[in-house]
Amino acid sequence: EKGGFEHFMLKEIHEQPKALTDTLRARIKNEGKKAINLEEIGFDASWAEANRVVITACGTAWHAGVIGKYAFEHFARIPVDVDIASEYRYRNPIYNPKDIFIIISQSGETADTLAAMRMAKKSGARIIAITNVVGSTLAREADLVMYTWAGPEIAVASTKAFTTQLMCLYLIAIQFGVLRGTLNDAELGAAVEALENIPAEAEKILSDKENIQRFAYLQTNKTKVFYMGRLFDYAVSLESALKLKEISYTHSEAFAAGELKHGPIALVDESTLLVAICTQDNLFDKMDSNIKEVKARGASTLVITWDDVSYFDKTADEVFRIPRTMASLSPMLAVIPAQLYAYYVSILKGLDPDKPRNLAKSVTVE
Ligand code: M6R
Repeated sequence: EKGGFEHFMLKEIHEQPKALTDTLRARIKNEGKKAINLEEIGFDASWAEANRVVITACGTAWHAGVIGKYAFEHFARIPVDVDIASEYRYRNPIYNPKDIFIIISQSGETADTLAAMRMAKKSGARIIAITNVVGSTLAREADLVMYTWAGPEIAVASTKAFTTQLMCLYLIAIQFGVLRGTLNDAELGAAVEALENIPAEAEKILSDKENIQRFAYLQTNKTKVFYMGRLFDYAVSLESALKLKEISYTHSEAFAAGELKHGPIALVDESTLLVAICTQDNLFDKMDSNIKEVKARGASTLVITWDDVSYFDKTADEVFRIPRTMASLSPMLAVIPAQLYAYYVSILKGLDPDKPRNLAKSVTVE
């Protein structure tokens, strides 16, 4: 059942290239020029009349939502609010009849997420569900469903559900851009081609996993791990820190790199490992000085960046490289080393990554 892998989590990490391909395949059309086809799910031009997109979810799915916000802004120039479902449901949110909601949930059964979805529905807003479970409550109650064709996700720590949620969000964001006229044909073609290359690029990262396994040594004597990045990399940092704490019980947190001086730096000492995610080329110099500030206080540093970048070689203790794609699509690749890293640290500590203490796969009660 684990397909030769020691744990479901490792198996599911390795299933990402196929899951990403399956999520993408049916939604691309190639009639002379490459385009996105979301007619299958009923996403027509009327959806693009929205004034605002509101994304709500919990945990890893919320992190996908944060990336969705950056993606919608980038490709479709539409305002986006992202909310944790348990916050959203107890707020007094302002509705606009032209809002559309994107509700993300692997299981489609998370109590807070369903409650937020029902509130939005009551306001008259239209709902898009992104879920992995066919026939789940979320899928049944939403106006439009986009499935992440990731296959069953057994491990408590979400991996392939996350990257396929991202794939769905990118497809919607890019199609939104087409319908709203913010993307021209050439930009659309380039984006679709980049999406199509993601599964093979993910595969390449997986084939380099021994390298990531080697970095688990960085954890020796480290009691806290910080992840930082800017823009898309900040969102990937959130997800990376969650993975590590869930299955290795390491105190880990994530922050936007620009926040370093506004607090987190007070915690940095020799017992700190800093993982800096650096895929936004125009912000490399900012990241580099942040990494130096942390290093000067005795922390060890690991950088995740593109395979053609040597910018951080002198600054960081270790650099892990991922195949280059469009900077706006980096999360689908940059998160994979962080998933593997969390997995190997868990193993190094003699833990069972598939069954982390105190956690359930599906949080169906508040
Ligand atoms: O099934 P859902 O996507 O609604 O679940 C949301 C969270 O409970 C889930 O992502 C949780 O944070 C995972 N354990 C993360 O690895």
